[in-house]
Amino acid sequence: MKVYKVKDYQELSQKAAGIIAAQVILKPDCVLGLATGSSPIGTYDKLTEMYEKGELDFSAVTTVNLDEYKGLDSSNDQSYRYFMNKHLFERVNIPMERTYVPDGTEADSDKACQAYNEILHKVGMVDLQLLGLGHDGHIGFNEPDDHFPDETHCVDLTEQTIQANKRFFASEADVPRQAYTMGVGTIMRAKMVLVVVSGEDKAEILSKVINGPVTPQVPASILQFHPNAVIIGDEAALSKTNL
Ligand code: GLP
Repeated sequence: MKVYKVKDYQELSQKAAGIIAAQVILKPDCVLGLATGSSPIGTYDKLTEMYEKGELDFSAVTTVNLDEYKGLDSSNDQSYRYFMNKHLFERVNIPMERTYVPDGTEADSDKACQAYNEILHKVGMVDLQLLGLGHDGHIGFNEPDDHFPDETHCVDLTEQTIQANKRFFASEADVPRQAYTMGVGTIMRAKMVLVVVSGEDKAEILSKVINGPVTPQVPASILQFHPNAVIIGDEAALSKTNL
């Protein structure tokens, strides 16, 4: 794992956007794996700025998102499809029909997961997978478990994740209890993985991800075994490592 230490969120976003931009320039028809949450918002803003300046062209890019809340449709402002449209897809020239997010409106979990796996197989290998880090070490919505799930599956969100994500909803009761997420196996098969981590509240878990044992109890720790994983952390997030 390569770890880049940057000063703050601003620098983190700049660096992450630079790496993604390089990927898009090197391979205009690349497959980008994308993430939601507050961590990548600045990255998407920077990518949008580059696009507006004419430095980036997304017209041949395909995207696959990590996850979606079960039960939320695209018009719900807490759905991850809504988030992606707002923060990136509607701001750049990516063809909407090549942006994929699991279908949260499919009530049958098996069907939803199978359909998303079929999309992932069709799209092929992800060139660059962007990730945030959950407070319990989750990636996508792969929560601490006794194993690393391979492909798309339906998860019960942990209490910690529900608590962390309730700030975005009108009330805690509105936070969905389940989500569809890409599996850890799929994430590990991406050619490159880029993790963006900011803030002191992530310091404890980030030190476990980087220095701790590889264990499904800390799902992101498996990235230690990825041949091309890059973590960009700001000073606060890396404050509990010796980096
Ligand atoms: C959610 C998402 C994750 C994300 C995590 C961290 O649970 N499913 O993909 O990485 O939150 O979010 P944040 O970046 O807001 O801390």
